[in-house]
Amino acid sequence: MKNRRSLDRELRPLREHARRLARTHLRDLFAVDPDRARRFSVEAGDWFLDYSKNLIDEPAFRALLDLAERADVRGAASEMMRGAPINRTEGRAVLHTALRAPRDAVIRVNGRNVVPEVHAVLDRMADFAWRVRSGEWRGCTGRPIRNVVNIGIGGSDLGPAMAYQALKSWSDRRLRVEFVSNIDATHLAETLRDMEPEETLFIVASKTFTTEETMTNARTARGWLLGRLGQADGAVARHFVAISTQADRVAEFGIARENMFPFWDWVGGRYSLCSAIGLPLMIAIGPESFRAMLDGFHWMDRHFAEAPLEANLPVILGLLGIWYNNLLGAQTHAVLPYDQYLARLPAYLQQADMESNGKRVDRLGRVVRWQTGPIIWGEPGTNGQHAFFQLLHQGTKVVPCDFIGFCRSRNPIGDHHDRLMANFFAQTEALAFGRTAEVVAAEGTPPELVPHRTFPGNRPTNTLLADELTPSSFGQLIAAYEHKIFTQGVIWNVYSFDQWGVELGKQLARRILPELSSSSEPAHDASTNALIRRYRERRAPAVPPAAGGPR
Ligand code: F6P
Repeated sequence: MKNRRSLDRELRPLREHARRLARTHLRDLFAVDPDRARRFSVEAGDWFLDYSKNLIDEPAFRALLDLAERADVRGAASEMMRGAPINRTEGRAVLHTALRAPRDAVIRVNGRNVVPEVHAVLDRMADFAWRVRSGEWRGCTGRPIRNVVNIGIGGSDLGPAMAYQALKSWSDRRLRVEFVSNIDATHLAETLRDMEPEETLFIVASKTFTTEETMTNARTARGWLLGRLGQADGAVARHFVAISTQADRVAEFGIARENMFPFWDWVGGRYSLCSAIGLPLMIAIGPESFRAMLDGFHWMDRHFAEAPLEANLPVILGLLGIWYNNLLGAQTHAVLPYDQYLARLPAYLQQADMESNGKRVDRLGRVVRWQTGPIIWGEPGTNGQHAFFQLLHQGTKVVPCDFIGFCRSRNPIGDHHDRLMANFFAQTEALAFGRTAEVVAAEGTPPELVPHRTFPGNRPTNTLLADELTPSSFGQLIAAYEHKIFTQGVIWNVYSFDQWGVELGKQLARRILPELSSSSEPAHDASTNALIRRYRERRAPAVPPAAGGPR
């Protein structure tokens, strides 16, 4: 990847367009160009993206495409996909695209084709998933598995948890699949509350197998299981499997090697859904649907690698993000899925985007003089409409939004879906075109209320519309966001695949932990010291997991 000099200079040609368009209104842009909706839309696989309700015109869009050309987004994508060590601060390749490559693909890391290993693990996962789903895999007392509890956090939780919810209508409803991430014991305790250990399978998912939250939860779960079953022979072997890159640490925990599903250090945690980290999802929806999801991801990978920039859905999403973030002063970006199944998508994208591009130095280590990753947030529609949409419509901030919806519901009951989608279309129309003071006054509104009831409009949105939420369309959507994030990282000239910013808090927590139960003076700043002292005076003694833990 090129270590470019300065994005500031590269943004110069765009600034004039931004100034010009900041003075115009979407109403005018639509009025002068009857072809606008067609011109600014693109179809990619199952997805139709209408980006015409953005504050761009043809010259501005061309200038954005030029920016992508100059940043060599295409070259960078090809470098990533052929296994170059583009995660330079960690000395690693970045190959989540290899996780969904077809069996006959050849992708080399340090000279070795990794595709056969990827498929060998997928095959093992499929075999295991079938055994759990069919009841062949039994707990140590001979009972079939009814509960699957994934213990992981960050990328080892958000991906499969979000995807499980998204694809729930493909899942085997006889299985209860839960995701425990928080080190707050409440998460584990409430999850295990009504579960029978004989019927429960724990999946300990951790790339490093050292993450404090995951290892603490895993130890407590093991204590709960052994405490409730007695030290039954083979209890851990029948009730615990692991997903990790660290075989030795897994063995040390007591999980047999044959119950470990590996992945590789060239898979970033937040990009790991298609690896063995997807095991709980595969158990839930079955190997066939899982493979259909992988095919969807792969389809979008090819599109990203091959489609011309002007028709490249992830590139377009990325460039529009740059437009608002770097040229029109937006600080945040809202993701608004109009589908309850996608309720966790904003949370998933928070990690994918903010852990990737929440960076302050460029690839040469210099503090950047431009904005990098935005704050990602959102909730499913229509819930958000009754919460924060007021600010979207009439607040003082520009919040570009992605509206994501489907033509057909997985639950076509009564007129729910038409009502949902009427809101979906109405919101982007209202945000773009608003309602002028003249129209509000002409409706007979008392003059003093006119300003309050006026909608300025001119608020940018993307509409992403697919026929139906399927494993494939879901995979395409997630891959599109992954590549959008990649495109932006290249243009911002930051390293998108490390996350050093999470380390300091972890280190301090390790230092503070023993201080919470000690009587010696804590050694921090005055505020932290006082808080620790106050906590110490009031804390309650802990209960050992096996004795009184969950339940
Ligand atoms: O703390 C951040 C992080 O390292 C994420 O990047 C990662 O997804 C998460 O922790 C979990 O890590 P692991 O899979 O190693 O437990």
